[in-house]
Amino acid sequence: MVMLDVVADKLHFEPMTVRLGAVVSGVDLRETLDQDVINQLSDALVKYKVLFFRGQDITREQHLAFGRRFGELEIHPLTQHKEGFKTQDIAPEIMVVESTAKTPITADEWHSDVTWRKEPSLGSILRCIVSPKVGGDTLWADMEAAYDGLDQQTKEEIEGLTAMHDWKPFRQAMYAQPGTETLVKELKAKYPPSEHPIVRTHPVSGRKSIYVNNPFTTNIKGKSREESMELLTKLYRTASTPDYQVRFRWEPHSIAFWDNRSTQHYAVGDFFPEHRLLERVTVSGDRPF
Ligand code: SIN
Repeated sequence: MVMLDVVADKLHFEPMTVRLGAVVSGVDLRETLDQDVINQLSDALVKYKVLFFRGQDITREQHLAFGRRFGELEIHPLTQHKEGFKTQDIAPEIMVVESTAKTPITADEWHSDVTWRKEPSLGSILRCIVSPKVGGDTLWADMEAAYDGLDQQTKEEIEGLTAMHDWKPFRQAMYAQPGTETLVKELKAKYPPSEHPIVRTHPVSGRKSIYVNNPFTTNIKGKSREESMELLTKLYRTASTPDYQVRFRWEPHSIAFWDNRSTQHYAVGDFFPEHRLLERVTVSGDRPF
């Protein structure tokens, strides 16, 4: 009992900006953490939106075990069909994020993950294995701050509206590979477009955020294409505001754990042709409201 209290007392959060991001110290992710520590990390995730850890030399099993403490892990249903995807020795819950001279980065666009699912993920835990000598940082944007920063007229305009989300970028990549038509048809039936509110309410904090993103949102329900695009473009742009962002420099054994319900992220593609290798586990989420 005394030991557990000591572990909980050592946990420390160092904010990286006034809005989001904190570096966590006083925790060893190789250990099975006490539930009190997990609770503190869960609360901190909602508060800081992205938690960063340094020097965590953990195995895949420890990565998976840490993720499972926050909920059920999700298997990405599409990345396994990407050309060059590695499955060898890797659990299906681990998503490999690798860029080389042959496979350049694809996440260099503001997005939150899998918004095309009915129940998009709660959050992801990304672990760095190989980082480029320079570059390859990831940025996160606080979409609650972005919502707060909207003018009153826009807030009123988007209140109650819903938008459609679709996995079109993956589909385009799949079509580029020969013989994928049947597979794409099956996946389209399994993962039809999802409808989500444009203003999402965080299930824990109750705070509102902007919940549309350029790669996956296709249109606003009930609006013409032109009207949709005009309003969506304005909302997408908010993620690019530096005041709402935190930027993280990767090194091997660094980990980032983000709240996918309140943030978007962008992987900077400035390191080609160098090697960058990370692995991600993703915690399942619930239906946005
Ligand atoms: C992702 O979108 O999960 C990848 C982020 C990154 O490569 O930094």
